[in-house]
Amino acid sequence: MLIDATELASLPASALSAIESERRSFAARRGGDEARHVLIVGGAGYVGCPVTAHLLARGARVRNLDSLVYDHGATMLGFLPHPNYEFMAGDMGDAETMNRALLGITDVVLLAGLVGDPVTRAFPAAAARINDQALRTCIDALDGKGLAKVIFVSTCSNYGMIGPDEIADETFALNPLSLYAKSKVAAETLLLSLRDKVDYTPVILRFATAFGLASRMRFDLTVNEFTREMFLDNELVVFDAHTWRPYCHVADFARLIARVLEYPAADVAFEVFNAGGDANNHTKQSIVDMIAARLPGRRVTYRDNSSDPRNYRVDFSKVRTRLHFTPRKSVGDGIDEIIWAMSQHMLDDVDARRTFFGNYALPGLSAQRQPDIAAEAAE
Ligand SMILES: NC(=O)c1ccc[n+]([C@@H]2O[C@H](COP(=O)([O-])OP(=O)(O)OC[C@H]3O[C@@H](n4cnc5c(N)ncnc54)[C@H](O)[C@@H]3O)[C@@H](O)[C@H]2O)c1
Repeated sequence: MLIDATELASLPASALSAIESERRSFAARRGGDEARHVLIVGGAGYVGCPVTAHLLARGARVRNLDSLVYDHGATMLGFLPHPNYEFMAGDMGDAETMNRALLGITDVVLLAGLVGDPVTRAFPAAAARINDQALRTCIDALDGKGLAKVIFVSTCSNYGMIGPDEIADETFALNPLSLYAKSKVAAETLLLSLRDKVDYTPVILRFATAFGLASRMRFDLTVNEFTREMFLDNELVVFDAHTWRPYCHVADFARLIARVLEYPAADVAFEVFNAGGDANNHTKQSIVDMIAARLPGRRVTYRDNSSDPRNYRVDFSKVRTRLHFTPRKSVGDGIDEIIWAMSQHMLDDVDARRTFFGNYALPGLSAQRQPDIAAEAAE
């Protein structure tokens, strides 16, 4: 069972019996085999590492397909001894690779992409090749393979900029402001148009901005970046401190993916869920304040009118009421664990291995424009 005992105990009886009957029908379709064999496309990235760890720990078999665009394959070395783990280096944009990657697979989690506004602005041709063309090839390969669920990980960035008194639920008009978010909206639209045309159940999760420790860290993300800069007592430049964004710990994303895999298809098919929790909507200012409460006396400079106008507060009531999901970890928890890891010298080599630790550049390619991580917080 991919959902742990504590979580199961917190679910209402109706959800428990629905999950149990889903499990029975999943096993019946597979000759009594209850085990899920999950392909994580883009599984070597920041989110993919904790998702892999969580699914393996809960008894699933996991295959990662990843083209390792940041030369970050070492993140997966720790998983190799696990008998239920398999790594495949490859590009989701190659149909033959996808067909091989899908052999024996029961469910797919789609994480792969060139992720974040800054890196897609800096490398627009690579962004189109990966986030539009390669993703399309990958999605085209999924039908007819007898898959159960396909979880597509999208982003709350799709909401773009919303009014000061508004809060975006899943029905809110999408206003993707970047190449990155435009590709996500296009992929969502494609998947949602496949009703009655494919043999699997697609589910779309619009992730909040991630934070927290993972074996591939990304320090181009707001909470992680701010914490590191303030820990090192570097001057932190904060753009548009009043802007809102939702955040979610990577370990909570892993829990949510496990939960979606176990939930009855009828409850999640062709559904879009904002992925996160209401308590983790924050302004950049409130994040700085939380870090400053732990690391006083640091240097912070504020500027307005960055090139990243995104400002959105997000409503997470659908995932809470339909899937009974609430994140366990607060932004404060994430700040504490990064401070702890840095104080233990586990992250002393970030500047020396910049590409490994963030989506700043693509090895071997020259940027059309330098990514400005400070001004356009990534995601
Ligand atoms: N991290 C966040 O804050 C956040 C927020 C919202 C949504 N998301 C979504 O979550 C997913 C994972 O994000 P992440 O933070 O782990 O990013 P990441 O950049 O760390 O991981 C992306 C992975 O995709 C792989 N990849 C890229 N192109 C590929 C291709 N053609 N074939 C196979 N693999 C390929 C990369 O090598 C990398 O391992 C993305 O879809 C992203 O849009 C992330």
